Amino acid sequence: AGVDPAWLPREVWRPLGSRRTLVDGSGPLVETVHGEVAAGCARYGGAVVRGTRGARGAPGVPDGSYDLVLRLVHHGGAGRHTDPALLASPGEEGFVHERSGGTTTVTASGQRGLLYGLFHVVRLGEDAFRGDRAPEAHRPATELRMLDHWDNVAVHPVMGQVERGYAGGSLFWRDGSAVADLERVRGYGRLLAACGINAVSVNNVNVHEAEAHLLTDRVGDVARIADALRPYGVRTHLSVNFASPVLLGGPACADPLDAAVREWWAEAVRGVYAAVPDFGGFVVKADSEGQPGPFTYGRSHADGANMLAAALAPHGGTVHWRAFVYDHRQDWRDRSSDRARAAYDHFATLDGEFADNAVLQVKHGPMDFQVREPVSPVLGALPRTRVAVEVQATQEYTGQQRHVCWLGPMWSEVLRFRPGGEHGSAVGALARGGMVAVSNVGDDPFWTGHPLAQANLYTFGRLSWQPDAEPRRILDEWIALTFPSAADRLVDGLRTVLHGSWRTYEKYTAPLGVGFMVQPGHHYGPGVDGYEYSPWGTYHFADRDGIGVDRSAATGTGYAAQYSGPWAELYESPGSCPDELLLFFHHVPYGHVLSSGRTVVQHIYDTHFEGVAEVEEARRVWAGLADLVEPARHARVAERYEEQVRCAREWRDQVNSYFLRKSGVADERGRTIY
Ligand code: GCU
Repeated sequence: AGVDPAWLPREVWRPLGSRRTLVDGSGPLVETVHGEVAAGCARYGGAVVRGTRGARGAPGVPDGSYDLVLRLVHHGGAGRHTDPALLASPGEEGFVHERSGGTTTVTASGQRGLLYGLFHVVRLGEDAFRGDRAPEAHRPATELRMLDHWDNVAVHPVMGQVERGYAGGSLFWRDGSAVADLERVRGYGRLLAACGINAVSVNNVNVHEAEAHLLTDRVGDVARIADALRPYGVRTHLSVNFASPVLLGGPACADPLDAAVREWWAEAVRGVYAAVPDFGGFVVKADSEGQPGPFTYGRSHADGANMLAAALAPHGGTVHWRAFVYDHRQDWRDRSSDRARAAYDHFATLDGEFADNAVLQVKHGPMDFQVREPVSPVLGALPRTRVAVEVQATQEYTGQQRHVCWLGPMWSEVLRFRPGGEHGSAVGALARGGMVAVSNVGDDPFWTGHPLAQANLYTFGRLSWQPDAEPRRILDEWIALTFPSAADRLVDGLRTVLHGSWRTYEKYTAPLGVGFMVQPGHHYGPGVDGYEYSPWGTYHFADRDGIGVDRSAATGTGYAAQYSGPWAELYESPGSCPDELLLFFHHVPYGHVLSSGRTVVQHIYDTHFEGVAEVEEARRVWAGLADLVEPARHARVAERYEEQVRCAREWRDQVNSYFLRKSGVADERGRTIY
């Protein structure tokens, strides 16, 4: 009650809920499927029959008397309508969908597969019940599709309840413990299943004192959350502090090769599995931004990861070891150090050293979730390591859910990037360790603060299932589900305000891939020199003559040489480097002519004026949809557009004024710059 249904409003159940369905099979997730169908039927007058034929292989009522059959079969079990190839190796999460003789059939050999098959039918709506359809096999590209919540159990004095959270408090934690009423957590699991996400990490990667205890004496809280998510096939993971043995009263050190430390972890993990039998594993931020790690003991990150992997292995758990390791106490005077190099320098040489159940979790770009970064060279550099891609659904650097910024196109570009060149595999295929997003969800009634930011969560789920999917098709799916029976004018309006919103955001913020220029600390709004003389390694080096970071091998930090295939050469020279990344890779004069034909400084002026005009236009389009959107949702978005317009103008005027004053070059079109 009072919570937005997001992409599962009741109307999406009408096609299925008004028909006759057989749910065939047994197990807890089959019960979930049955419950969902039964609820839809109760609303729309259909009927659901519960069968166990699939499980037992015994004949029941002929399938032809149902409109829809959702059937769980055992490997090699009966399944007249099913694709033998898929059933031979269906995977726990795949399903076959087909239609003949007036019956739509979904067959799966794993319970999660059946659940995903159900939501597939929901997405298809009436189309699921039309014509004939030859058997189609569906299965996810990767088995781990995860959301990391940067939620604190106790409210942190600086970061609050949710670090980089823009959607209220935590969905999981309140007043120092797990929320008493887990109804919303259950609802969250349901939304996640409906877009294909199967794992959640429930606490911040910066593991403070209170949160460290979730591993041991507070594991009961984790178990309650896991119980609420489990019926929707979502496994629970924990972020752990590498120094847990020390923090929690175990051995006095955390050396990963110390026998007592290893035994302490093995024992802690046994305790976790006793409370959460299907526990997913750990997420670890080590030797990063002040978090403890193996470097303290002169050990490698593989040593650290493998110690935790060894503790988890007997129980089927995985350790997600983050590659976000860099020196956050850099000297801004020293132009030879380069934060962008750090992950590759730390991890590329460790390829082949990680345990089978260790995943290296790599941010999509080398810096930190900027609106534009090159794809991290780490993603193509460790062929013998299970690598996961980490993206940021929470909009830390992309408008903090006050600005509309649909990230589907950016994520899709990352997943389609081919680190080895056009004949090599795409990142989406190389990411055998899975897909991870930092969640943008909190206890806000719209889940994501900005109602349109729900599109980011949904798009992430669907892209993690199928990384080469066309993002605009996913957005249309989201629109169709979230706004069922929407008038064409609403569909067009939503497309208009969302499609180009990432590029619009890029236009009015930091130019040409240079990044940051945000206000320090909270990272909202412009601060051109906000980090310029800081220790964080995020500089743009603007002076009176030019701007950008020389990361070439010939004259710069050498970062460009971390790429293989054609990329090292392409990025090496300002002549071949793509415009949008020019200032990430090169320091150029303001008069440098881009491949667009404009000079760098004129590009800065033009894009900042354009970006604001585009936001003003989007606000106008949204205002025109008032009669088609529920008032509360319309008002929430409209109010955020006011802030987005205000903030975008601030960006425009600060950035343009800064570069006019630095360069002395006037705008060719004589617009107002201060
Ligand atoms: C960013 C973010 C931090 C976060 C870090 C991480 O730097 O600002 O809040 O802890 O990323 O990914 O670990």
